[in-house]
Amino acid sequence: MQFNFNKITTRKDTNSVQYEGTEPIFGTQCLEPFWIADMDIETPEAIRDAMKKRLDNGIFGYTIWQNKEFYEPIKHWWQTRYNISLDDSDIHYSPTVLFTIGETMRQVSSEEDGIIITTPSYNIFPNLIESNHRKIVESPLIYDKRSKEYFLDVDHFTSLCRNENVTMYIHCNPHNPTGKVWSKDELETIKNICEANNVYLVSDEIHMDFVRPKEDFVSVIDLSEESDKILAATCLGKSFNLASIPHSYFITKDKKLAQVITETAKEVYQVSNVSSLALAAIEAAYTECNEWIDQLNDHIQGNFEYINDYINEHLSDCLSFDIPKATYLGWISFEKSGFDTDVVHKAFIDIGGIAVSPSKLFLNHENNHFRFNAASNRIRIEDGMRRIKDTFDYLYDTQNCKSGTYI
Ligand SMILES: Cc1ncc(COP(=O)(O)O)c(C=O)c1O
Repeated sequence: MQFNFNKITTRKDTNSVQYEGTEPIFGTQCLEPFWIADMDIETPEAIRDAMKKRLDNGIFGYTIWQNKEFYEPIKHWWQTRYNISLDDSDIHYSPTVLFTIGETMRQVSSEEDGIIITTPSYNIFPNLIESNHRKIVESPLIYDKRSKEYFLDVDHFTSLCRNENVTMYIHCNPHNPTGKVWSKDELETIKNICEANNVYLVSDEIHMDFVRPKEDFVSVIDLSEESDKILAATCLGKSFNLASIPHSYFITKDKKLAQVITETAKEVYQVSNVSSLALAAIEAAYTECNEWIDQLNDHIQGNFEYINDYINEHLSDCLSFDIPKATYLGWISFEKSGFDTDVVHKAFIDIGGIAVSPSKLFLNHENNHFRFNAASNRIRIEDGMRRIKDTFDYLYDTQNCKSGTYI
């Protein structure tokens, strides 16, 4: 069956953060948005049908997650898509991925401890670390111009892990915002360094279903053995555009930590029941939507190729872009334009009328990149690229005006 990812569906009157929540970051509403990581693409029909069926029952009381409708689809997905066998006892419900990461941090580290993140970093990790009174320890990724890939600075990472105040590392695989996919060798190196220095390894794998090709995704769970200090957190929120249907799960062989997180969710936060709609969605997604997500990845790859061609044709003087091997987030540099970074980000808003994520949010201290969400129909992507071109055309025009060459 061929799925149509170019259908235009309005998000008017849905209170979407993507469209209606731009004010706190961009200072204004009514921008064409390509910032937050959700999709302008409908959730697959199979999932919507399953949720409708559940709705038809009419009763939505407290729902237990420890049941076969939770474990079986998750095991099926990991086995058939990633060739990883899981036991029920490896899999645990959690309300959100960030709840899992935050709770792991609270359990395995103490206040004032250092928590490593690779930078640029998904913007919420630094907030999560600081709001839990821990210290952000940055391990800047190195960009290799030849291979056009980001790499871990292994020596620097090792020296950070050796610091006795450092107790946890938040790994992001695939990596938001760069789209890096970590190889098995890289993961083994990281695992060994963390193990040798007693640093807890938490892997955020929320974008795992957007690795192209899918065979290149290696979960830390694939390297994990009984009672290793390793945990992976994920959900279906990104893959099937279900961010407003609360749910997530984590996988670990560390039974002690799993028990503590589950008990804390139950006793301290009272958030231990699963959404009945999420349960229906998980079963349909993980048993019926393999082909859908493969085709969605083809569509996203097509959008990235369009963006790449457009930049080469119209914006090669000012933008550099490498098609990412994962996620639906493009990480685009305007370093070579030479324009002041604040001026560019302001012009995106004032001239392009477009909301793209400024890279300072991701601790890209030069702030000379922006993150562009490509999970949309092609018409919106074309419109977004025109807005970016209008922005830079304006900047070049005003610059020429200033230098007197513009008449
Ligand atoms: C890497 C990463 N982790 C976590 C999240 C949010 O996950 P959740 O809403 O389940 O906490 C996002 C959302 O953009 C993300 O990109």
